[in-house]
Amino acid sequence: MNIAILGSGHGSNAEAILAAHAAGQLGRARVTGVFCDIPGARISELGPRYGVPSFQPDAGPFKTKFPPSVEADWAKAIQETGADFLVLAGFMRVIKQPLLDAFPGRVINLHPSLLPAFPGLDAIGQAWRHGVKVSGCTVHYVNATVDGGAIIDQAAVRREDGDTLESFAQKIHAAEHILLPSVIVRLSAVAFPS
Ligand code: GAR
Repeated sequence: MNIAILGSGHGSNAEAILAAHAAGQLGRARVTGVFCDIPGARISELGPRYGVPSFQPDAGPFKTKFPPSVEADWAKAIQETGADFLVLAGFMRVIKQPLLDAFPGRVINLHPSLLPAFPGLDAIGQAWRHGVKVSGCTVHYVNATVDGGAIIDQAAVRREDGDTLESFAQKIHAAEHILLPSVIVRLSAVAFPS
């Protein structure tokens, strides 16, 4: 399974994947490239650090979506790296037809809540303000509904009495860094059964 990682920001989840990859702990998955849509984002520094090509194709004039022709260009650029699977790790742009059609059933996303609770932006803040005692993170397949595709796996995180929003968020991010690489390892075993 040849994966491309797509992200927009800090890239801590991309880094968890790249570190596992560099350590030979990403199962049968190989990372072909890291794609970033925000100039200057930290994630774009990570590929070279881990020996993986980094790409920053023009993403068009909008912040949260692609114009269709630009999205088709992204699909082509990603395919040219040899990728056959997409991992959205903090990619804050909705992806639709051209990309989903280029990787049918082969796009997964990480979300920082126990979906279907708290979809959309600021999921950790939403859960915190709601006062939930347990939240967590989800890896799911991507379809045309935002945060709505089939759930692959989840990890739960308890909100303890002494938690602040920051400490709660930190625990959720730590859980993400374990969950996402572990899902990739499992999917790579299915893609290449021995
Ligand atoms: C992660 O918490 C991820 O779950 C979230 O963005 C963060 C990216 O962090 N994604 C979403 O909210 C998508 N709806 P990172 O850039 O440090 O990996």
